[in-house]
Formats: sequence, C-alpha cells, structure tokens
Amino acid sequence: MDSLMKMVAVALLVLWDVAQGNEDPCRYVAVGDSVTISLQRSADCVESSLTWKLNSTDIFRRKQHVRLGKDSDVTSDGSLQLVDLQRHKSGEYKAELYNAGGMICGKATETLCVIERVSKPSVTYTCSKDSVTLTCNGEESDIKWSFNRLSMEGEFKKTVTVPGRPDHNVNYSCTAWDTVSEETSDELTIRCPVLLSMKVNQDVREGGEVSILCNSTPTADQYIFRTPRSKHPVLVNADGEFRLQEVTKDDGGLYTCQPRWTHGLYDDANVTVQLRVLPNEGSGGVTPRVASGTENRLLLLATHCWLLLYLLALTD
Ligand SMILES: *[C@@H]1O[C@H](CO)[C@@H](O)[C@H](O)[C@H]1NC(C)=O
Ligand SMILES: *[C@@H]1O[C@H](CO)[C@@H](O)[C@H](O)[C@H]1NC(C)=O
Ligand SMILES: *[C@@H]1O[C@H](CO)[C@@H](O)[C@H](O)[C@H]1NC(C)=O
Repeated sequence: MDSLMKMVAVALLVLWDVAQGNEDPCRYVAVGDSVTISLQRSADCVESSLTWKLNSTDIFRRKQHVRLGKDSDVTSDGSLQLVDLQRHKSGEYKAELYNAGGMICGKATETLCVIERVSKPSVTYTCSKDSVTLTCNGEESDIKWSFNRLSMEGEFKKTVTVPGRPDHNVNYSCTAWDTVSEETSDELTIRCPVLLSMKVNQDVREGGEVSILCNSTPTADQYIFRTPRSKHPVLVNADGEFRLQEVTKDDGGLYTCQPRWTHGLYDDANVTVQLRVLPNEGSGGVTPRVASGTENRLLLLATHCWLLLYLLALTD
C-alpha cells in the first residue's frame, strides 16, 4: 500500500513537471510598463517578515520595518509593485512571508520577461516592369500586411510582391507586432508610373498599309488614338492596334495614344510616334509596293538587256 502511494506521488510529480515544461514560464510585459506581482497569503497570516527576491537576490526585505528597498515597493498586502520596467529587470520574482512562529504563511513566484515595445513601421515600394514590391521598414518583429485595412492572408514577410499595377484606390499598410504590443504604419497609396510604348512597324509608302501598336502596363481596356487626319480621337480596343490602309501623304505626322481603364485609377499617360509616309517609288504612283530584292535584280537585268540591244544596234 505504502509503495503504491509512492508510485502515485511520483507519477503526479512527473505529470506536474511535464505540464510545467510545456508552458512558457514568462509573463510578458513591455519596457516602461508597471506591474504588480501578487502575494498569496493565508487568511490568518500575521506578518513577521517579508522578502522579495529577483533571481535569488534579495530586492526587498521587511521585518518590523523596511530593511532593503522602500515602503512603496509593496502594496498594503505585501504584493510587489514594479514601475517603469526595463529589460534588465526580467527574471524570476519570488516572495516569502513568515509569521511570528517562523512558518511560511504567504508566497509568490512569477517570471517576468520585459521586452521592447515595437515601434511604428513604414511602408516603401519599388515598381518594376510588371509588379510592385512593398517593404515594411522597422525593427525586427513579426509582420502582417493589410490592404484597405483588411488583412492580406498569408503575408507575414517583410516584403510582399503585388503583380501588375495596384489601383490608386488601394491603400497598403503593415503592422509590426510582438507579444506585448503592435503598431501599424500609415496607409500608403502605390503610384507606379504607367508604362506606355507605341511602335510603327516601318516607314510606309503612299498607298501602302501601316499598323501602329500601343501597349501599356497596367493593361488598358481601350486606347484613344489622336491622328493627323481625324478631327476626333479614335477609340481602339484592348489589342491597342491602329491600322491604316491606302496611306496617303496626309496620314504622315504625329500619332498619340492614351490608355483608358474601365476599372481602376491610374496616372494619365500618353505617348506619341511620328509616322513618315514616303512618296511612292514609281513616278506614276501606281504600284505602292516596295521592290523586293528579286524585283531589283530583274529590273537590273532588264536594263542590261536594253543596253545590250542598244550596243548591238550601234555596232550594226
Ligand atoms: C535572471 O535570470 C534569467 C534567466 O537566467 C536571466 O535571463 C535574467 O537576466 C536574470 N535577471 C537578472 C536581473 O539578473
Ligand atoms: C487611402 O489613404 C488616403 C490617404 O491616407 C486616404 O485619403 C484614402 O481615403 C484612403 N483610401 C481608401 C480606399 O481607404
Ligand atoms: C500627354 O501628356 C503630357 C504630359 O505627360 C500632357 O501635358 C499632355 O496634355 C498629354 N496629352 C494628351 C492629349 O492628353
């Protein structure tokens, strides 16, 4: 029976140890905080002496009157009052209260971990060709991101990459946090310049055809073209291609392209190219086609033939 009791006692102790090991012993508090560590005392306890220790070094001692520390260090019931805590005040706080009979009638044990309060972070960003990288600047701490004040799922790194171009209606912020505090940056609107390009496939001859391509990031829903010939802007669909057939001299000049978005707000942007219309090669202006290499050679051959015939006629 006796040994059974011992086994149960040992088992309980082991369980107790395991339970203790599993939990974080710290009570986390921020630098600058004030906390009170309660003293548990039995109802009939009459104080003869009270001692508070930090990591087994006495920090407060009272027997009749205060011998170490000062009156204001403890409350009327003997609990420890700590004000304006600093990191070096982390450690295990322990109290022992004795009655006149020299018996313990009150005690306390608590481990304080004093950690720095996070400071307010700030968001910066860099625009690349097809994405934006946001950075949360601040001291090392845990991070979370928000988008119009709603959490961005799964974004806990210092940097986050957003594809394309964020709308100007969208605000980003990041929050730095630790066990005792959290701080959120100011909200930031991303304004990456719109990337716009326009190209003409080649210089064109009168009577020929030409294609002018406009391209933008973020991708536009429509493009507005201003041309030398049309009084009103011309709307071009999402492919951004403006085509001209049977080109005349009057089509030469400046073409401006301006992207339009049906959803989303972006900076105004436009781009301009110059179209040069070359006069037709043939004097009559009948064949608008550019002579290819073979045609040139044929032409040369034909000229040679005439020359040969002419020479033959001379020698006759
Ligand atoms: C108390 O001990 C803990 C753990 O060993 C240590 O981190 C802390 O700095 C000590 N505190 C003081 C005030 O010495
Ligand atoms: C984004 O932030 C700006 C400036 O802080 C504010 O004026 C605007 O209303 C915010 N927009 C949204 C959608 O929250
Ligand atoms: C094109 O952009 C410039 C500034 O970048 C602006 O001054 C001009 O008015 C714009 N043109 C059109 C047609 O929007």
